[in-house]
Amino acid sequence: IDEVKGGPDEGLDWVGKGLTVRGWVRTCRVQSSVTFIEVNDGSCLSNMQCVMTSDAEGYDQIESGAVTTGASILIEGTVVPSQGAKQKIELKVTRLVVIGRSDPTTYPIQKKRATREFFRSIAHLRPRTNTFSAVTRVRNALAYATHKFFQENGFVWVSSPIITASDCEGAGEQFYVTTLIQNDTEDNNFNVSKIPTTKDGKIDWSQDFFGKPAFLTVSGQLNGETYACALSDIYTFGPTFRAENSNTSRHLAEFWMIEPELAFADLNDDMACATAYLQYVVKYVLENCKEDMEFFNTWIEKGIINRLNDVVEKSFVQLSYTDAIDLLVKSKKKFEFPVKWGLDLQSEHERYITEQVFGGSPVIIRDYPKEIKAFYMRQNDDEKTVAAMDLLVPRVGELIGGSQREERLDYLEARLEELNLNKESYWWYLDLRRFGSVPHAGFGLGFERLVQFATGIENIRDAIPFPRTPGSADF
Ligand code: 4AD
Ligand code: MG
Repeated sequence: IDEVKGGPDEGLDWVGKGLTVRGWVRTCRVQSSVTFIEVNDGSCLSNMQCVMTSDAEGYDQIESGAVTTGASILIEGTVVPSQGAKQKIELKVTRLVVIGRSDPTTYPIQKKRATREFFRSIAHLRPRTNTFSAVTRVRNALAYATHKFFQENGFVWVSSPIITASDCEGAGEQFYVTTLIQNDTEDNNFNVSKIPTTKDGKIDWSQDFFGKPAFLTVSGQLNGETYACALSDIYTFGPTFRAENSNTSRHLAEFWMIEPELAFADLNDDMACATAYLQYVVKYVLENCKEDMEFFNTWIEKGIINRLNDVVEKSFVQLSYTDAIDLLVKSKKKFEFPVKWGLDLQSEHERYITEQVFGGSPVIIRDYPKEIKAFYMRQNDDEKTVAAMDLLVPRVGELIGGSQREERLDYLEARLEELNLNKESYWWYLDLRRFGSVPHAGFGLGFERLVQFATGIENIRDAIPFPRTPGSADF
């Protein structure tokens, strides 16, 4: 349908041609002399209006009531100009085949508008709605544009592991992984009591497939650094996991992250890359997902197209963490969480800065206190801050977190000791600083937050097909 109706003439160039449409019925209106069937095949928001008279093959299916909302059908016909105001063309049906019926009394998607929450409970059917099909197509376009941007700029895509022993962010938010060892071959059902334990009741990792604690990755960065320190510019793009028990509109337990890593680069190069990347992918969806973006502009977030056009055209505000704290203190606004140099910024502070102070422009805050940031960030000359940057956007808050990495072996070792981290387990990471160390920097962007930002969808659970949050792993 997109191929036919998505062109400059909205399908008029197809008039007179034969066409086969396969899709799902949105509505079927039977009138005395003619029946109108709206079919959608998911390629775009537009339905194909199909007009059927009793002489067409398969009309008995209309008479028997088999063409109902949700049914899958095949329609053959000829494209003709439409009398209706809503479309330029329609399909005059010559043959109709019902492929899969759909009981209209139990089909969960009804004409009456339902809440997003309800649709989360039918995550297997929600892609058949306008909102979720549009979000899915834009998500796809953002993924495509991501690869296009990095590939065009000479970055190599690297797969980072999903199972790992290291905790990149040091926040203790990992899921741990164990294998199902079945000692008892007669009982093939895995039973929690069969996790091998030592005499003192702890998990016996020596009997586990991995031989030591293994976790789901929270970030592919450390692995990405090893490849940047060999191939120069690389990026990862894959699923990451955080066992944080937060029920917010911007946190998932499983989310996709894009993590570029640039060799021979400092924090300024990193911020320039983040800016160019964000502008590129936003421009891409504005140009390539016009119909879906118009839909969001009307139904999800009024004015989103103008807002995104500004993102593409205007440069981003940059300020230091210290200046951000000053600005928040001077604002005299009552925040829920305290504002003080040394404390992390909360989402309410981040949103205040982008939405109220800078009128909706993305803002990059840099040079955070080292105490609130991860061990690998490069210490600044003031010895109090590190070369870190967060990119904040309206509504979502933190979209990107990045930094220049500590490439000096002595500084990094000292920091690991200060934080009481086990130096031995980072032996390979330290090797990068022993053999041909280079200044390097990178960032991580939460892909679902990007989808939120680009579509206006309020809750991150609606930015991914099957959201994983505490207590939800159905489907
Ligand atoms: O700021 P974070 O924790 O940074 C890192 O993981 C670095 N290792 C990245 C790097 O430098 N290569 O996470 C990066 C981004 C955040 O800015 C946010 O967009 C997203 O990942 N993110 C989440 N998205 C959804 N749900 C969660 N629970 C998220 N936690 C982080
Ligand atoms: Mg962060």
